[in-house]
Amino acid sequence: MEHQPVLFTPFKIGGLTLVNRITMTPAYLGYANSDGTVSDLLLTHYGTMARSGAALIVVENTGINSSALGSPFMLRADDDRYMEGLTELAKVIHAEGALAFIQLNHAGRYAFMPERVAPSAVPIGNVVPKEMTMQDIDETILSFTKAAVRVQRAGFDGVELHGGTGYLLAQFVSPRTNKRTDSYGGDLEKRARFPLEVVDAVIAKVAKDFPVGYRFLASECLPDGLILDEAIPFAEDLAKRGISYLSVMVGTHESFSLEPYFSMDKTEGFMAGYAEIVKRVLPETPVITAGRIQSPEVAEAILQTEKADLIGLARVLFADPLWPKKAQGLIKDPIIHCNPSCSLCMKRIMARKPAVCSQWDKSFREAFLKKIGESSDN
Ligand SMILES: Cc1cc2nc3c(=O)[nH]c(=O)nc-3n(C[C@H](O)[C@H](O)[C@H](O)COP(=O)(O)O)c2cc1C
Repeated sequence: MEHQPVLFTPFKIGGLTLVNRITMTPAYLGYANSDGTVSDLLLTHYGTMARSGAALIVVENTGINSSALGSPFMLRADDDRYMEGLTELAKVIHAEGALAFIQLNHAGRYAFMPERVAPSAVPIGNVVPKEMTMQDIDETILSFTKAAVRVQRAGFDGVELHGGTGYLLAQFVSPRTNKRTDSYGGDLEKRARFPLEVVDAVIAKVAKDFPVGYRFLASECLPDGLILDEAIPFAEDLAKRGISYLSVMVGTHESFSLEPYFSMDKTEGFMAGYAEIVKRVLPETPVITAGRIQSPEVAEAILQTEKADLIGLARVLFADPLWPKKAQGLIKDPIIHCNPSCSLCMKRIMARKPAVCSQWDKSFREAFLKKIGESSDN
């Protein structure tokens, strides 16, 4: 029997209808201003991403307080002075017909400044973060809720809590970064307590129909890190709390450049197997999968085989913002693929420069570099 294509069929998250199954998963590109406000560069970028035809744009990780910042160019949502820019950002995305979510994050031990807080004093490089006190924990939960309420007021359609990439929420769940002996550390139930309290507090404070999604770390891909067997019961707890979707990912900043992640990352749809396991356990919870989904055929196969409900594109959409329109046949040109052996976007943001893509055409790249006052992308 011939199956009907799914990629361009609608899907519901809570009361919201996504016009197709394509989402942009968050991608920090270093485009915000150094004070955490929205820049013109960022507005232009998200306008382009929203114009792509993706149903839902999830804006990059955004800081919930001053100790949450993973980079000096991270967007912020911890004060009303960020409201004007955030409101403009949601408007720009809506004007192109996409839904706008935004990801909230605390970088914990991955913060960029030397004074860092974390579940435990587990060193990162030569920095030893401060173990969070009960007061720090309570204040951080409050910061997450205040930021969530603020982005809702700014006009976003939903919020995503960043439980991936080894940031603070994941640091609590991980046995390698959470060595606490109080009620927030120990067995999985205790390690999961802090992120679940954040989820409960955010859901309690935002409007009933305001979706709260979760970037979900299925495995740290490190020998002593969080493994799938422990992540799954945590996913079940998140679903019980009323999370609106799980955006499944693997790996942290400590595993991205190591095996097995490094090789896996070059393969199309490399995280779909993890999403599938989550989907099998939680058939009622919407699941997003990302990970070098370069071709509409692979995207369609993931949906047909019910590994996930939604396809996430990050670098893939950055390399070719016409991907959804080309996939739908509205534009006949071939899709321009993100090059698996290139990491220019990553290299640039690590060097604290705005990301560019090696696949952009020459004139576009030159115009972009000129705009940011550079003559070459090295
Ligand atoms: C430059 C860059 C920045 C990223 N920033 C974020 C982020 O802010 N939040 C997040 O959850 N994931 C982030 N990701 C991960 C992506 O959302 C995505 O899961 C991953 O890149 C795989 O999808 P892709 O192959 O389409 O890029 C980032 C990835 C890259 C390469």
